[in-house]
Amino acid sequence: MSEVTLPPASVLTERLQDSKVVLVTGAASGIGFAAAQLFAQHGAKVILVDLASGRLKAAAEDIGHGCDFRACDVANWEQQVALFDWVKQTYGPPEIVCLNAGIDPELATSQTPSAKEKVVSNYLASELEPREDASEGGSQLKQPPTVVFDVNFYGVLYGIKLAVHHFPEGKGGRIVITGSAASQMGVVNQDVYVASKHALIGLMRSSAQRQELKDKNITVSMVAPWLTHTGLTANLPPEILHAFSTESSQPVDVAMGIAYLATAEKAEDVHGRCLWIRGKRCIEVEGAYEKWLGNLIASTST
Ligand SMILES: NC(=O)c1ccc[n+]([C@@H]2O[C@H](COP(=O)([O-])OP(=O)(O)OC[C@H]3O[C@@H](n4cnc5c(N)ncnc54)[C@H](O)[C@@H]3O)[C@@H](O)[C@H]2O)c1
Repeated sequence: MSEVTLPPASVLTERLQDSKVVLVTGAASGIGFAAAQLFAQHGAKVILVDLASGRLKAAAEDIGHGCDFRACDVANWEQQVALFDWVKQTYGPPEIVCLNAGIDPELATSQTPSAKEKVVSNYLASELEPREDASEGGSQLKQPPTVVFDVNFYGVLYGIKLAVHHFPEGKGGRIVITGSAASQMGVVNQDVYVASKHALIGLMRSSAQRQELKDKNITVSMVAPWLTHTGLTANLPPEILHAFSTESSQPVDVAMGIAYLATAEKAEDVHGRCLWIRGKRCIEVEGAYEKWLGNLIASTST
């Protein structure tokens, strides 16, 4: 594993100048907002993307100069198609796409006392619903919701496809996915969220092996934040927040990792790489994974 030294402000400014078009999803708050703000401060033209809400407009106004906003549900393919078309027509093709929007209903609800919310947060809960075929009568076990994968996984899958399609011909582009420390490890009571974030690292690793991306100078990489103080974690009990206080991050710490991956000059420095961000520490972890995998394959070959 190697500690990554993040670039100083002057380097970011140099690499983002000429109003590079940057798209950030989930930018109305938290990590996405911090990343959008950082890009705008260093001269990029930033498009903040989030669900339609007053927060999105307020976030863009907060940043002020150098940004615009567009409401889009990233889980909706048609809306993402319209988003990328609008960006291209209005500002030209994006060169940096940060696929950051994500939800964690298990975390948001697992700490609340409401019995109904606890059922929503636990995919194993034995809640019943009426049978689809009413003629059979009675009830059946309720289907677990699929919304976490719709947003966290399909929202990113759609974004990668559209970014690759829209990046400027002959120039390429940078895609940065917000995974999670939960892309690498299991977390109690977070089954579906963890699975969605594991799916993202599989998507990142496999996409990074595609020759067409290498040929087009397109990189795909990931940040994997540990506990970060945002709306997502705001409902955690104070004792948990306190226990993690020395190792938790602020949104800007993660934004710095995103900016590093998004502005690297040499594709090979960031392509297929994942930055584990805990507190202010930023560590590349895919190298260690590849070494472990190589050893596993070697030790089990016949
Ligand atoms: N906060 C943490 O501790 C932490 C740790 C690891 C990973 N992450 C990841 O960081 C990312 C950003 O989360 P955050 O912590 O800043 O939380 P946040 O709730 O502050 O921000 C998430 C944003 O995504 C938006 N969003 C949700 N669903 C959307 C949709 N369908 N379409 C468009 N936008 C949508 C929300 O409106 C919100 O503004 C997420 O992918 C999250 O899983 C967060």
